Amino acid sequence: MTEAHWGRIASIIGISAVVAWGSANAPLGSQEPEAFVRLDDRERAIALTLSPLPKMPPQPSNRFADNPEAARLGQRIFYDVRLSRDSNRSCASCHSPGLGWSDGLELSQGIAKLNRNSPSLLHAGYQRWLFWDGRADSLWSQIQWPLEHPNEMGFARADLVRLIASDAQLRTEYEAIFGPLPEGAHNPERFRPGGRPPLPAPINPFRRAPSLEQLAESDAGHAAWLAMNEQDRIEASRVLANTGKAIEAFERKLVPGPSRFDRYIEGLRENDVDKMSALNTSEQRGLKIFVGKGQCVNCHFSPLLSGGEFHNIGLAVEEGKPFDAGRPDGINTVQIDPMNGRGAFSDAQEWASNVKLRYLRYDEHTYGAYKAPTLRNAAVSAPYMHNGRFETLEEVVRFYVELPGGPPIGHREETLLPVDLDDAEIRDLAAFLKSLQGEPVPEALRRPLDPSRN
Ligand code: HEC
Ligand code: HEC
Repeated sequence: MTEAHWGRIASIIGISAVVAWGSANAPLGSQEPEAFVRLDDRERAIALTLSPLPKMPPQPSNRFADNPEAARLGQRIFYDVRLSRDSNRSCASCHSPGLGWSDGLELSQGIAKLNRNSPSLLHAGYQRWLFWDGRADSLWSQIQWPLEHPNEMGFARADLVRLIASDAQLRTEYEAIFGPLPEGAHNPERFRPGGRPPLPAPINPFRRAPSLEQLAESDAGHAAWLAMNEQDRIEASRVLANTGKAIEAFERKLVPGPSRFDRYIEGLRENDVDKMSALNTSEQRGLKIFVGKGQCVNCHFSPLLSGGEFHNIGLAVEEGKPFDAGRPDGINTVQIDPMNGRGAFSDAQEWASNVKLRYLRYDEHTYGAYKAPTLRNAAVSAPYMHNGRFETLEEVVRFYVELPGGPPIGHREETLLPVDLDDAEIRDLAAFLKSLQGEPVPEALRRPLDPSRN
């Protein structure tokens, strides 16, 4: 950096004496040099890759992904408790705007208790894979799981068809976007109560998958599905996919505004100390650890502070918790899911739009791996990890310092080594993580649409 440059900064910030710290460093005013933490060249270069958040990526498998009417319908459905077997829960029950679009629970509670923690939906539109094991490749196909799993909402796609057909507002809005509902949409003889296919299950090489006829013997919903004709089954699945596409259009709007961290990075890029003071000294020390000796960016990189890929960090399983293979089940399931990007309901079925599905492999290294979540909303989405294991961000950081125990399955990624941090540094790193929280999404998205509004 030239002296002239330093001079310009000095004049911008209204000080005459500037300490020249070398090219990699933020300009430090003479008044409070201790307020700014020095990043070395490498740390600074990495830090600059973490912000700003780019525009929402395109979503070719959903033609309606950025359609405002679809987003409005999606919002209506997102908050609608009629989409559950007991008419008592909606998507918002476990992804509540007031609880960081999560539920605040260690393990989610649907009609029955689930075996995983509910992730926040903030930034969901940026995710390459959905779920902790990545078993869905799009937000629209994702909804079949919560909607139809008997432990979650316990609903069924045949019921969804009749529900939309029987509600004048839903029907009008749906048909304006997706075209007419199937013929006979009202008819319970055609769209049978509870009618739903089995959810895609991972292939087990040692056990032949049960047939629909076998499953129908013990599950009334599958029996109802079996009794439906082939064309009506396809139509019911199309209504489910379209409903998912509307929900996806809504979810793509759940992007918080810039955080204090983003303002700091803007300042770092522009050498603007005013903006840089958006982070206090402790938070800046935490950032330095995050991009430096903490090696957090190995997995939590890019502006999402997550590569969105899967790692076994070796959380030991607590007594009595169910077996959970993680990523291999996700890989196995998404490949055979009729609702994946290659399937009949996708708006971009060609390989070119689905390359991510093409090269999936699972082996011993993927066992026990889960998705590295975005850290942008971590401050408000406690508890943490796929099994809700930690209550606070300090506890999470302490885990990376100690790396206690070992994974019940697979092996901990070898690149993950204990991080040498003292108590003050642990607090700094946790403080930094909290500075990633952005401005809340607009109030209008945080509540159900007014039903009287058309
Ligand atoms: C009973 C609680 C519950 C309900 C109801 C529920 N979810 Fe979830 N949701 C979860 C849990 C738990 C997970 C993580 C499950 C897993 O990874 O296997 C999850 C994961 C997700 C994800 C993946 C996020 C990511 O970053 O990977 C999305 C998107 C999502 N849910 C949207 C929805 C929508 C849309 C609805 C309504 C149709 C819904 N959820 C209803 C509990 C729930
Ligand atoms: C080897 C890859 C890897 C490294 C390195 C890593 N993480 Fe993670 N992180 C993950 C994965 C994978 C998860 C989810 C694990 C699970 O649920 O089983 C995770 C989860 C988290 C969570 C919980 C987020 C939530 O919403 O539940 C936080 C916070 C976190 N990491 C912070 C950090 C910090 C701070 C560092 C550096 C000290 C770090 N991570 C280093 C892979 C990594």
